[in-house]
Amino acid sequence: MTPDSTNGAFGSQPRDRLGRPIRDLRISVIDRCNFRCTFCMPADREYRFLPRQQLMTFEEIERLVRLFVQLGVRKLRLTGGEPLLRRDIEELVRILAAVPGIEDLALTTNGALLGAKAPALADAGLNRVTVSVESLRADVFGRVTGLGHSVDQVLDGIDAAAAAGLGPIKINTVVMKGTNEGEIADIAGYFKERGHIVRFIEFMDVGTVNDWSLDRVVTASEITGRIAERWPLEPVDRAQASDVAERFRYLDDGVEFGVIPSISRPFCGDCARARLSSDGRLYTCLFADTGPSLRDRLRAGATDDDLLAFLAGHWRQREDRYSEVRAERLRAGLQPAAERVEMFRIGG
Ligand code: GTP
Ligand code: 5AD
Ligand code: SF4
Ligand code: SF4
Repeated sequence: MTPDSTNGAFGSQPRDRLGRPIRDLRISVIDRCNFRCTFCMPADREYRFLPRQQLMTFEEIERLVRLFVQLGVRKLRLTGGEPLLRRDIEELVRILAAVPGIEDLALTTNGALLGAKAPALADAGLNRVTVSVESLRADVFGRVTGLGHSVDQVLDGIDAAAAAGLGPIKINTVVMKGTNEGEIADIAGYFKERGHIVRFIEFMDVGTVNDWSLDRVVTASEITGRIAERWPLEPVDRAQASDVAERFRYLDDGVEFGVIPSISRPFCGDCARARLSSDGRLYTCLFADTGPSLRDRLRAGATDDDLLAFLAGHWRQREDRYSEVRAERLRAGLQPAAERVEMFRIGG
């Protein structure tokens, strides 16, 4: 048995029911997005977004982050919706970069606004960005992202981020059968040449609106196989057990890519991630249907001690292992369970 807590430099650090600590906090700063990706928030639906006063303020986010550090968090990732739509996002970056105990501050973006924002983000103390790119072809990119955006603008944004020092840059590519599976090696090659790390993600059943089905998943092994046809590769060990990607290195230039096999080889066993939605709910799994509101507790006057006790207790009760359960259900011929938060509310 793993102990249910360990003592770290910043206080007592809880373990959940499966012995997992809490290390990464992913903070959604806004639920709105300027894209409508088919696998996340398809354009043919109406969405209702949170009014501004329901979003966590920067002060509230900072206070929670300081508490999470005491519980063991070392990595922060800002997400959305599209986080660059949050007004004054660079101010939040500046605040969080100054919190003692945070070793890594990253941001996941669709890249459309990155060209304009990269220098200010780097100046504020952001360490690195991850940019979503599902296709390099104008027509496919336009179709997948829904609102007529240009892939060139995103690629320029990536160049701007690299020039601003926001690397190593990672690229997230969700692979879907019948959409971009034919482009895997081209996408790999484009970013290989620039030294960026692509992570090909198996299309997941997140949320309830993306028409997921197992037939549309291209497995991590198939993806790696297609890349290996073009370049010799070697596997690379995970840097930390809780990392989601299986890593590979091209033998010719040492650049890396990864695959994120949530469907075919789930990685819940070491999952040390917590997520905050933009209205301040705590989700202990990407596939959770709900979580307690930390914002309401803050606004009702909870003290730091109250909050710490609540968070530690909540984490100790955690037993999420959705992707593993899904894999067991699929093997038994059952569909995944039904109620899940939408991806754009907790940012992936
Ligand atoms: P770094 O290792 O810090 O660079 O980031 P990361 O590996 O956490 O990467 P990122 O946040 O970009 O995650 C990439 C994608 O992996 C997400 O957008 C999700 O699609 C998927 N993913 C991340 N975390 C989880 C998780 O806990 N469970 C599942 N099932 N998928 C995840
Ligand atoms: N399956 C896998 N990954 C997804 N993302 C969004 N929706 C899905 C899905 N259905 C990922 C995208 C994006 C990040 C925010 O979440 O890669 O980079
Ligand atoms: Fe696409 Fe990300 Fe926006 Fe979802 S939140 S629609 S994945 S850009
Ligand atoms: Fe963690 Fe849930 Fe993803 Fe499993 S499915 S890795 S428990 S977030």
